[in-house]
Amino acid sequence: MIAPSILSADFARLAEEAAAVDGGAGGADWLHVDVMDGHFVPNLTIGLPVVQSLLSCTDTPLDCHLMIEDPDRWAIGYAEAGAYNVTVHVEAAKDPVALAANLRAAGAKAGLSVKPDTPLEPYLDVLRHYDTLLVMSVEPGFGGQGFIPHVLDKVRTARRLVDTGQLTVLVEIDGGINDDTIEAAAEAGVDCFVAGSAVYGADDPAAAVRRLRAKAELMSGRHGEGEK
Ligand code: DX5
Ligand code: ZN
Repeated sequence: MIAPSILSADFARLAEEAAAVDGGAGGADWLHVDVMDGHFVPNLTIGLPVVQSLLSCTDTPLDCHLMIEDPDRWAIGYAEAGAYNVTVHVEAAKDPVALAANLRAAGAKAGLSVKPDTPLEPYLDVLRHYDTLLVMSVEPGFGGQGFIPHVLDKVRTARRLVDTGQLTVLVEIDGGINDDTIEAAAEAGVDCFVAGSAVYGADDPAAAVRRLRAKAELMSGRHGEGEK
């Protein structure tokens, strides 16, 4: 799956930018929406009113990535508005198990994100309550940063736990995904790839989505081959 991040789109033309990557076969699977509060991360973007407006102008499921403090208080609104997947940061959530239950009860998938240096192991029990694991492959806050390869160790761990039935999360990666990095991420076992600058920085965003998916498909299914 490919989830273009509108962080790299033109915020004054969001409806058109969403339409540029949707449209049936080969289009975006999800539209990734980066919500930043200027506190959890040193950047400020958009919030619930813009997400509500986006929901009314696109059929592409919205993947809301909340880089905010106190998600226990604020995340539910995105689920109630109709976001398909609502992801919160484990570093910010006070009671992530209750939060996941609330998001699911409001009709959304619940996502949990880890920053590049946050280990997975302390959160494996928490992850059993979640639908999506978002592995950050840059420090959250800005688009266009370089991919941090060591996070692929966490992807491989999550992939192994999913493949052996110990977790049921979809494994998503976010940050620095482009034509040069997507194959390594796919080989490590990623299911869903967020790409901001690689999609919206391209002359033809829809073609960029198709090209990224084709590259990922070439490598997917190869994870674990060297371990057997
Ligand atoms: C960064 C955001 C990402 C960002 C990725 O904090 O979470 O979703 O848009 O941008 P690229 O793909 O340019 O690294
Ligand atoms: Zn994001």
